[in-house]
Amino acid sequence: MAAAEELADIQALVRSGFGSLGGARYLLLRIADAATAKAWLRSLDVATAAQIGGDHDLARVMQLAFTCAGLRALGLAEDALAAFVPEFIEGMAGNERRSHRLGDVGANAPAHWTWGLGEREPHILIILLAKKAEIDGWAAETEALAAAHGCSIVASLDSCPGREDGAPSNEPFGFADGLSQPLIDWDGRVAVTGSANRDYRADIAAGEVLLGHSNEYGFVADYPQESGLGRNGSYLVYRQLSQDVTGFWQWVAAVAGKDRAVWFAERMVGRRISGEPLPGLAQDGPDFIFGNDGEGRQCPLGSHIRRANPRAGDDPLGRRGFLRDVISSVGLAGTAQGDAVASSRFHRLLRRGRSYGDTLSPQEAMDASATPIQAGLHFICLNASLARQFEFVQGAWVGSATFGGRSGEQDPLLGNRQPFPDGCRTDLFRYCGPDGEPAIAADLPQFVRTIGGAYFFLPGMSGLAFITGC
Ligand code: HEM
Repeated sequence: MAAAEELADIQALVRSGFGSLGGARYLLLRIADAATAKAWLRSLDVATAAQIGGDHDLARVMQLAFTCAGLRALGLAEDALAAFVPEFIEGMAGNERRSHRLGDVGANAPAHWTWGLGEREPHILIILLAKKAEIDGWAAETEALAAAHGCSIVASLDSCPGREDGAPSNEPFGFADGLSQPLIDWDGRVAVTGSANRDYRADIAAGEVLLGHSNEYGFVADYPQESGLGRNGSYLVYRQLSQDVTGFWQWVAAVAGKDRAVWFAERMVGRRISGEPLPGLAQDGPDFIFGNDGEGRQCPLGSHIRRANPRAGDDPLGRRGFLRDVISSVGLAGTAQGDAVASSRFHRLLRRGRSYGDTLSPQEAMDASATPIQAGLHFICLNASLARQFEFVQGAWVGSATFGGRSGEQDPLLGNRQPFPDGCRTDLFRYCGPDGEPAIAADLPQFVRTIGGAYFFLPGMSGLAFITGC
C-alpha cells in the first residue's frame, strides 16, 4: 500500500516541519509509574499526517517518540524490542565505538552531556509545536500533566521563535536553514531500479523514512511487525548541538578579514547566507547539483552541505551508456574516491530541527568585545535506517578526515578537530579564493559541541496504540 493511503497512521512530523508554527518545545520525560503514564499517553491528541492540508489547519501539533529504554520502561516485551535495529537498542550514547564513529569524543563525549545518559536518559520525547504566543502556556500545562501522571521531567527545551510567515528561519551562525529536504514519494511513483533513477534526484522512496515501505533498494527492510508496532514509524535522531557563535565569526574574520568574512563562511557552509546556492552551480530542475563543479571550485568539496548531501548519483563518473553503467554498478569502474561519495539517495535525512538560544548578527559576533551567547541547534532528523542514513552521514561524510579525495579535513562547521587514530589531522579546510586559486585554511577550532542526544522511535498511530496499551 502506498504511504499516501496510510496518512492517518503516520505522525504529522513526517509530512511537515510546521514552519508556520513558530513556537516549539521539546519535553524529555522519564517514566516513574508505567501504568499511570500509559493511561495519560493514550489520552493525548497526537497529530497525524492526514490532518495536514485540505480543510485542516493544525494550530497545535503534539508528537510522541520513545527511546528503547522508554519502551522497556513502559513494559514492551523483550522479544518485541529485539525486532528494532541494534543502533536504537544500544542508544546513541550506549556504546563507546559508536560515540567514536559519531565524533562524540573529547568535548563532545556523552559524559559531558546535559541529557542523554544514565538518569538523564529520556524515555519519552514530546514535541509541541504551536504559535509563538501559545507555546509557553501549552508547554507548562503539558509539563504539569506529565508530572501528575507518573513522569519526571529530564528537560524542557525551548527553541528560537520561528518566523511564521513561510520564510526560512536562520540558525545561530546566521544562515538560512531548513531549505534542502528529500521529497518523500508518498504515491510510490518512483521506480527506484530504473536507470534514470541512478542520477541524483530530490525525491526518495517512502521506505527511506517510514518503516514497512519499499526503500531505495526496492525492498522493505526488516522492522518490528508485531501488532503493527513498527509500520509507519520512523527513527528520530535528536542531537542538541551548542554553537560557539562569537568563536565562529571571530575566527572567520581573523582568517578572511571582516569584509570577506561572510564570503568565507558561505564557502564553509556551501550556500549563501541568504540560503541561495553559491554562484556557478548547475541547475537541475528546481534544484542545484554539483555536476559541473567536480573539483569544488564553486562549492568546496568539504563544505557542510556537500558533505551532508553530495548530490551524487550512483555513477561517480556520470551515466555513460548501458554497458558502462553495468560495469560501474558492479564496481569495476570509477575510483574509490568517487565511489565514496556516490549514491546520495541511500543516505538522505529528513531534517526537522529548530535552533535555540540568543541571537547575534555576524557583524555583532565578529566584534572582539562581543559577549559569548548560549545558542545552538536542536538537530532532529527522521530516517528508516540509523546505520545507513544518520550514522553514515555523520561518521563517513561529516566527521571523516578523508572525504571526496581530501584528507586532513572534517566538516568545517561540525568537526570536533580531534586527530584520527592514525594521527591524521582534521582541522584543515580547502577552498578556492575569489581569484579562483586553491587555498587552505588551517587550525580550525571546534565551533559546535554535542551537549545531549538520543535515538527515538516515532511510531505510527497503530504502533503508538500498541506501545501505550501493552
Ligand atoms: C549546529 C549544527 C549545524 C548547523 C549550524 C547546520 C547548518 C546548515 C545549513 C545553514 C544548511 C543549509 C541550508 C539548508 O539546506 O537547510 C544545512 C544543510 C544541511 N545539513 Fe546542517 N547544520 C548543522 C548540523 C547538521 C548535522 C549534525 C547534520 C547531519 C549529520 C546536518 C545535515 C544537513 C543536511 C543533510 C543538509 C542539506 C544538504 C543539502 O541537501 O544541500 N546538519 N545545515
